[in-house]
Amino acid sequence: MNDLPEHVRRNRALWDDWAKKFAASGEENWTRVTPTWGIWDVPESEVHLLSADMTGIDAIELGCGTAYVSAWLARRGARVVGIDNSQAQLTTALRLQRQHGLDFPLLHGNAENVPYPDASFDFAISEYGACLWADPRRWVPEAARLLRPGGRLVFLVNSFLLMLCMPAEDDVAATDRLLRSAFGMYRVEWPGGHGVEFHLAHGDWIRLLRHAGFEIEDLLDLRPAADATTRYPFVTLEWARQWPCEEVWKARKRA
Ligand SMILES: C[S@@+](CC[C@H](N)C(=O)[O-])C[C@H]1O[C@@H](n2cnc3c(N)ncnc32)[C@H](O)[C@@H]1O
Repeated sequence: MNDLPEHVRRNRALWDDWAKKFAASGEENWTRVTPTWGIWDVPESEVHLLSADMTGIDAIELGCGTAYVSAWLARRGARVVGIDNSQAQLTTALRLQRQHGLDFPLLHGNAENVPYPDASFDFAISEYGACLWADPRRWVPEAARLLRPGGRLVFLVNSFLLMLCMPAEDDVAATDRLLRSAFGMYRVEWPGGHGVEFHLAHGDWIRLLRHAGFEIEDLLDLRPAADATTRYPFVTLEWARQWPCEEVWKARKRA
């Protein structure tokens, strides 16, 4: 524990504390036959994060939490591994594995330093996991190391625009004003919070991904349906229908 980077130690304590609050949504997502993504449940048919048939694909979820994304991959035939920094989150994941009769490896660890050899996987995914809570200068090169040439990386995070419009106070929704500078954003700690997040401008993501050996295939701005709902207070439907509050990056490791 003491040899973990400071942000990883702090985020471990935070997520061990928050795990109970995320158990119910994890349970609900485990029961979904068709995946939906992000805080507005955007249907997979709109965004195509996964292939319909993933038989024989070696996949890893970086920051799997309750591991419902891993479960969706396993049901599509992938040999999946989930890694998460929080033992409490993995305890929920293990319970849901047993309940749903699925069994895949769940590792307690830091996605910046994964105990698998180079080129072990064809597909890596993160939905608000390591892609938000781990240091991109560490986890992106680590994802590149883990993937085989031609392997795909897909991750979903808060949009950069949302980060510019988000008040610092807890539970206050994003405004239609730019509240902070777009330059130099990287490590973000909200006042009163205990966790460490990472938010990057698009140019910084592009440089980082390319430097690590990825080609960027797509950047999707997610738009919720007109009748979508969310349990998260930090953005309203009115806002999210006008501006993207979530984005998906799709990249491929250069062959
Ligand atoms: C919001 S959950 C993501 C899981 C799920 N997709 C969801 O949206 O609930 C964030 C997860 O990232 C994990 N996490 C944070 N930092 C991590 C790191 N450095 N390595 C692996 N997992 C990490 C947390 O423990 C937490 O379970």
